[in-house]
Parts: sequence; structure tokens; C-alpha cells
Amino acid sequence: MNPLCVALDTTERAELERLASLTLPSAGIFKVGLASFCSLGPDLVVELSRQRPVFLDLKFHDIPGQVAEAARAAQDIGATYITVHAAGGPEMLAAAVCAAPECAVLGVTVLTSLDQSLLTRIGVSFPMGEQVVRLAEVALEGGAAGLVCSPLEAAELRSRFGPRDAGGPLLVTPGIRGPQEEAGDQRRTLSAPEARAAGADVVVVGRPITEAPDPAAAARALRAQLAP
Ligand code: C5P
Repeated sequence: MNPLCVALDTTERAELERLASLTLPSAGIFKVGLASFCSLGPDLVVELSRQRPVFLDLKFHDIPGQVAEAARAAQDIGATYITVHAAGGPEMLAAAVCAAPECAVLGVTVLTSLDQSLLTRIGVSFPMGEQVVRLAEVALEGGAAGLVCSPLEAAELRSRFGPRDAGGPLLVTPGIRGPQEEAGDQRRTLSAPEARAAGADVVVVGRPITEAPDPAAAARALRAQLAP
């Protein structure tokens, strides 16, 4: 499996198509997030899914009935991976898993844009690592096929829940930044090879590719770092 997932985070259709065609040779997965989905609509997923598996990252968080309907709709437009916030509880996760059996449902643990002080601010008194494990357990109890976490927690989740070939979860890590790259709004980051070494199966990269002067070259370089 090619572990590079390119986040096509733009609201302009022409720019999205340009980024998709430039990064296609290097990308294993295309990710469609809130901004592109809300701007460009479900047809975008239908079209991209003809080229690569699509990770529809809408991070559902609602009552189980709503999440089930949304997950079913995501499956119908061709999404291969979908995200659900683990903080919604195991029933919400299970509702998505049950409604979209052909999708891999990924439980989002703690957003990579949050650090310990922001976690405290939203009322969570546990250390970051403990909170990520707690939410991972909730997601897996609900039947999630995988987990979204920062690369900093990947090793702990991999050792706790086991390797992929022994039934362990797919680990997906955004928050990928090289040592010289701008973190932007990301707070918990590592480089792509570090994330892989920590046990990530899929690394999600957005701005380091989409905002590079040469997105095709940036994607190629990341793909090379993640070989084989
Ligand atoms: O541009 P950048 O590489 O920071 O993009 C990361 C992508 O991963 C964004 O599309 C963002 O929505 C997504 N993501 C994240 N943190 C999570 C889950 C998804 O940054 N916990």
C-alpha cells in the first residue's frame, strides 16, 4: 500500500484538479476535507474516486442516527475512508460502521492542532497520551477499522493495539512536517519517515505539498521518503 495521502485542501475546483493531477503519480490516497467538500460538493468525491481511493475527512460528530445517514451517503458517493470523532462515543462509531460496511471508518482521537494546554482548556484533565488512548479504545469498541492520531502517539497505539497483520488498527497520521517546514495550525508534528517509523500506515500531507512551489516534486520527494 502506498502510504502517502495527499490532502487536497482547496475551495477552488481548478486548483483542486491541478493539485490532483500533479500529485497523482505519488499519491496512494486523495483526501477531501471540509473546505473542499463544502465548496465543491459530493461530485468531487465521485470524480476523484475514479483515480485514487478517497478519504472523505468530514469528522462526523452528531447523534448516531445522523452519523449513520451521513456515513451511508459517503459510501454511496465512493468514499473508501471516512472519519468519525471518537468523542461521540462507541454507539456513534458503531452507527457509522454499520451504515457504511464498505468504508473503512476511522476514529479521530485528538486533533493534531490541539496541545496539552488547549486540551485542558476544553475540560480534559488527562495527559494528551492518555486521552488519545482513551478515545482510541472508544473508537475500536465501536468497530472502527482505524484511528487518526498525531505521529507522536502512533508508537503507543501500535504497541497497545497490535500490528496490522495481527488485526491491529490502520493508523493514519496528519501533522506531518519536515524539520524546516512551517507548522501552521498544527501543534503535534513529526516528519513523514518518523511517522512511518512510529507505526503509521498512512501519512496525510496537505500544505507541505499544496503550498509548495512545485507540488509534483514535493509529493514525489515525500513518496520517496516513504519507500518502499
Ligand atoms: O496542511 P496539513 O498537512 O496540516 O493538513 C493536514 C490535513 O489533515 C488537513 O486536511 C486536516 O483536516 C487533516 N487532519 C488533521 N488533524 C486531524 C485529522 C485530520 O490535521 N486530527
